[in-house]
Parts: sequence; C-alpha cells; structure tokens
Amino acid sequence: METKRGSLKMVLDRDYRVADVDERIFGSFIEHLGRAVYDGIYQPGHPLSDEMGFRKDVIDLVRELKVPIVRYPGGNFVSNFFWEDSVGPKDKRPERLELAWKSTESNQVGINEFSKWAKKADSSVMMAVNLGTRGIADACNLLEYCNHPSGTKYSDLRIAHGDKDPYNIKVWCLGNEMDGPWQLGGKTMEEYGRLAEETAKAMKLIDPSIELVSCGSSSIEMPTFPQWEATTLERTYDYVDYVSLHSYYGNRSGDTTDYLACSDDMDRFIRTVIATCDFVKAKKRGKKDINLSFDEWNVWFHSNAADDDITKNHPWQHHPRLLEDVYTFEDALMVGLLMITLLKHADRVKIACLAQLVNVIAPIMTDPDGGASWKQTIFYPFMHASTFGRGVVLQPSAHVTEHATSGHDEVTDVVYVPVYNEENEELTLFAVNRTLDKDVDINVDIRSFGDMKLLEHIVLENDDLNAVNSSAKENVKPSLSNDTKVEDGALTGVLHKASWNVIRLGKR
Ligand code: AHR
Repeated sequence: METKRGSLKMVLDRDYRVADVDERIFGSFIEHLGRAVYDGIYQPGHPLSDEMGFRKDVIDLVRELKVPIVRYPGGNFVSNFFWEDSVGPKDKRPERLELAWKSTESNQVGINEFSKWAKKADSSVMMAVNLGTRGIADACNLLEYCNHPSGTKYSDLRIAHGDKDPYNIKVWCLGNEMDGPWQLGGKTMEEYGRLAEETAKAMKLIDPSIELVSCGSSSIEMPTFPQWEATTLERTYDYVDYVSLHSYYGNRSGDTTDYLACSDDMDRFIRTVIATCDFVKAKKRGKKDINLSFDEWNVWFHSNAADDDITKNHPWQHHPRLLEDVYTFEDALMVGLLMITLLKHADRVKIACLAQLVNVIAPIMTDPDGGASWKQTIFYPFMHASTFGRGVVLQPSAHVTEHATSGHDEVTDVVYVPVYNEENEELTLFAVNRTLDKDVDINVDIRSFGDMKLLEHIVLENDDLNAVNSSAKENVKPSLSNDTKVEDGALTGVLHKASWNVIRLGKR
C-alpha cells in the first residue's frame, strides 16, 4: 500500500517578527495538592534530599526543564489558604483540613521554604492570594510579609522567621478560577470584578513594582465566557497587567486524530481572550494592552476516576496520590502542539504555566515510598521548547496540507513555529506532524539567514501511541533524524507521521 504524503512549504524571513519570547512562557505550577509538595519536591529523610528536605534529584530535573517561574500555592488550594499557618517555626504550624482536595495540610512547607526551593531550582515564585474565603486585608498582609523590606508588622515577622531579605515576588494572581462553582468562595463576575479591583488597588499601593493577574474564565467551556473577562477587566483594567486562561485536554473518546486537533481550540481561546482584552481597552479609551497569562495548561484526564474515588471515599489523607496522570506518547504530541500554540502568540501570551510540575499532572514523577524520580513522556517537548525556544518568534509565509477530523473539520497536518535566537544566530523550527498516517515533506526557504547549516533534527516518535515511561523504563525518549538537510538556502526533510520535531540550524 502506498503511504500517503503531505507537504509543508514555508518561506522564512528573519525580519518578519511576531515578538520576542518572554521566557516566563516556560513557567510551571506547584500546588499544595496530592504529592506535588510532600513526597514530591519535599521529602525529609530521603537519601537524595538536602538539609532542608528538598529532593535534589527533583531539583535537577526542574533545572533541566529550565522553568523561570513557578505559580504557587494553588490552584483551588489557595481559595481557603491561611498563609499565616504556613510560616515561622515548623513545630508551631497547625495541621488543617484542606477543603479543595479533601486532604489534610501539615503546613510544613510554606513561603519561607518555597522561596528557597525556587532559588535552588533556578526559578522564581508567582504567588496567588486567597480571594475565595479571604480578601483585601489578607492579600495586603501577605504582600507586606513577602516584599516590604522591614519596619512594619508583617515585614518584621518575616525577619523574625529568619528571612532578612524580602522575597520580592514580582507576579501575583488575584485568586484562582473565581468563576468556578467548585471554587471555595466562588463569585459572580460583578462580585469578583469589584473585589479584584479593590485588592489590586491596595496591593499596588504597597508595592507598585508588582504585576497582577486578573482571573479569567476557568475554561473556554464556562457558560459565562467571555462575558466574565469583559465585565471583570472593565473593573480591573487600570490596575492589572494580565488576565489568566486555564485549559486542560484529554483523549476521552479514544479518537486520537480529533484529540490532536484540540490545540486549535487553545488557539481560538487565546484569540477570543485577546479580542476581549482589546474590546475593554477600546471601551476604556486605554493606552495599555492587557496581556495573557495562560497559567494552567496541560493534558489532564487519565486520573479523573481515581481522583473521584479518593476525594469521595477516602478523604482527609496527607498527600494522597491525586491527579497522577501517567502520560502516553500521544499526550507528549499534544503537549508539543499546545506549547507551539502558546509560542505562536508570543506577542500577547507573556506568562504560561505547565500545570503542574511534580507528581500532579506533571512532567516529573517520584515513585512513592521514597522511590526514584523519572521523566514522563511530556517532559521532552516542554524541555526542548524551553531550551531552544528563546528568541524571537517569526511569522512564516506557509502552505501546509490538511486532513479531516470528526470534531474539528479540516485541520492542518502540521502545527509549527519558528524561533530565531539572534544572539546565537540559531534558528529552531518546532513542528508536530499530527497525522497518524502521513509523512510530511518539508521545504523551507531560509535564504534571508545567510549561510546556515543543520545542527540537529531531534524527533520524538513511537509506533505505540499509548507508550508510557516509568522509573523502570523510558519507552518514549528523543532520537535524531537523518532525513533532513540544508542546501542552497533551503531546508528540506521529512516530518514523520505522529512526531514531535525540533529542527535546529546554526551559522555555517
Ligand atoms: O491544576 C489542578 C487544578 O485545576 C487547579 O487546582 C485548579 O485551578 C484547576 O481547576
């Protein structure tokens, strides 16, 4: 049988720029949920833990991912979080009921510890405040504790807790998914708009240098989307810098072709939120753009039934095994597609957080009971993008073949984004061939870059779409392709069916 073939023809010009990539697009997220913190980043007594109880092997993996910012401490967790419980002497910190995930919280890790962990991981903290069950005063007190140098009640409390220097946390989320009926202290858009406006106003009085994220809709599926964004941003426009977007994907139907088309949904979500931000800007006769913080994105569906069982039938455990999706090869393709989609919008998506980072819907896993750490399939596309995706996103002129899907009509065979790093004079083309039956021939005109050579063509491919990794065996890992060449100002090669590709070119 003759194999079907597709084609991708592209002209790239180094001067046709979309925008510089803000490195915070490679952010991630750690919530006090399941084994993300306890048994994840923190495990005192483990042979690989440091003097603070942080797993050094996990820190090494986070460093490998090059994550510049980590959202903390939630998520749904933050909406009933009493931050004062989690600072100061550890033996005085109370055990609390954690209502969002029906667990218990020992408070042995809080901002004192997490700010140090972030430094060890070469990262920074993006902090969320509780606008569910608490409000303006609590957000102000926490900000004073974290960022004010000294001489006031909460800054001096931080110093008394051993941290003389302020944490200087730059980015703050005004609550989490406040439109969600599941959210503790959930709000209508009018209620949230007012509360977020007043909280933002007060927080910027304390520290005008911070950047604030207003809560957008919990997903594009929410019945109040996008009116929520329009109504709340009209309130918060003068004070905030970003609006949040959250989205999770999953192959629930088993139709992989349609699953891999879902990155087009993310694209539509982003475009609609940009349009809504611009509508508010126009209505306000405003000068500044509200940019996007896509601060929760990933695949999440494998663990849903197990999570329901734990929260309904076995509540109030300390760090239970919640949201422990084990990702397949096709999920890695999906994460690659989503990462490319975020990069394509680098002009407006300035922050994005892969949700989450360790054990909970995560690229990094630790085996329970003091076991080893290991890389999930999705580790690789994220790591490649974070390593080679820094520079300027270019706007290609391109033609690509298409295929039919059950739920998304015709979609492109390939989703791609070129990133040019001017400093290193390196051009990287990220591309996912999302067909299951077509190899795609590529031809890219790169004459405007001068004399370039191929550095490497990294591929993630596997005959089994359901292949997974574990601590025992890494079935899904990158290899190098030999099909690619650069000649006479053209890059030519093949993107195999169902593959993640990183084609790197440098100066000859
Ligand atoms: O990341 C898991 C959960 O997903 C977060 O707590 C919440 O914000 C979202 O619904």
